[in-house]
Amino acid sequence: MEFQSREQADNAKLVKAQSHIWNHIFNFINSMSLKCAVELGIPDAIHNYGKPMPLSQLVASLQIHPSKTSFVQRLMRILVHSNFFTAKDVTSNEVGYVLTDSSMLLLKDNPLNLIPYLFIMLDPFVLKPWHQMSTWFKNDDPTSFETEYGITVWDHASQVPQFNEILNDAMASDARLISKLLVDDKCKGVFEGLESLVDVGGGTGTVAKAIVKAFPQLECTVLDLPHVVADLEGSQNLKYVGGDMFEAIPPSNAILLKWILHNWNDEECLKILKNCKEALRMSKGEGSKVIVIDMVVGDENTDHELAETQLFFDMLMMVFLTGKQRNKEEWANLIFSAGFSNYKIIPILGLRSLIEIYP
Ligand SMILES: C[S@@+](CC[C@H](N)C(=O)[O-])C[C@H]1O[C@@H](n2cnc3c(N)ncnc32)[C@H](O)[C@@H]1O
Repeated sequence: MEFQSREQADNAKLVKAQSHIWNHIFNFINSMSLKCAVELGIPDAIHNYGKPMPLSQLVASLQIHPSKTSFVQRLMRILVHSNFFTAKDVTSNEVGYVLTDSSMLLLKDNPLNLIPYLFIMLDPFVLKPWHQMSTWFKNDDPTSFETEYGITVWDHASQVPQFNEILNDAMASDARLISKLLVDDKCKGVFEGLESLVDVGGGTGTVAKAIVKAFPQLECTVLDLPHVVADLEGSQNLKYVGGDMFEAIPPSNAILLKWILHNWNDEECLKILKNCKEALRMSKGEGSKVIVIDMVVGDENTDHELAETQLFFDMLMMVFLTGKQRNKEEWANLIFSAGFSNYKIIPILGLRSLIEIYP
């Protein structure tokens, strides 16, 4: 065994620590490289090629300046490293790029694509409040977003139609993916037998539309802020209501809260849940329940990347809204404090769970 002096061991620790810091300083490069690739249309180019795409073909297919052709390989190298593409040998001296499951979700024509979510989160306007975190810790502003812009996210959306649109589109992109899972056999039981459902904070109605398509007997209402649902047209069993969930929720047999409670602090969540309870009580239907779609953090079996992503979402809520991601105990406290009798956590939506809450 090779002998290592104490000084050598200390030096090894020193450079490891330096490398760890560098890795964290430069974490944003993964996000920015990904954004650049999507803006350049790289996933679509590779998809359209239909087989492993050599670099020369990829370069030729992109609308880039001739002086930049030699840089594409470097962009691709980091994206292969971060698992957005795989490089396969096509000849002895050339590789061809193929998509991974993740870059499939970044194809413009994929109905489940997450491009609007990627673009809003990495928009310079949305990145700015992150620079205010330490200032926010020293002042009494509710969020770093308010430290930067002096207004809440929802009020900003109500005043700036373009922001309202990209925010709603980003939410809808996630809603399309979740809707596919919700109407899948595994989740279908959750909605079976229900007569009416209000999707509280249901955005532009993506989930509600998928639910009424899969369960035509169900009367569905989307409740959201007036600026979100203005001009949206319902259908025979889907209607839009502009309102405020802190004021009142229309009576209903079931209530869906997808990505709502994580936006708000415990006090605010209690108000929402109590209004849900009142809406269920007024409808008097059988089998009434609240269906929450949100994260349940703190599962020791979660792998490193999943756990880190949940922590990212928790920080996202801290910077932009008053909410947080909750562990099992925090969910139980909230649910029982709002006067509900029981709940069931069904971990079938990847990072998120479906939580059924019973009156
Ligand atoms: C994170 S988004 C989730 C949207 C949708 N449920 C989804 O998951 O795709 C939160 C939604 O809550 C809505 N919202 C915020 N405050 C509200 C309020 N006081 N009453 C009703 N909806 C509200 C927002 O307009 C937004 O559509």
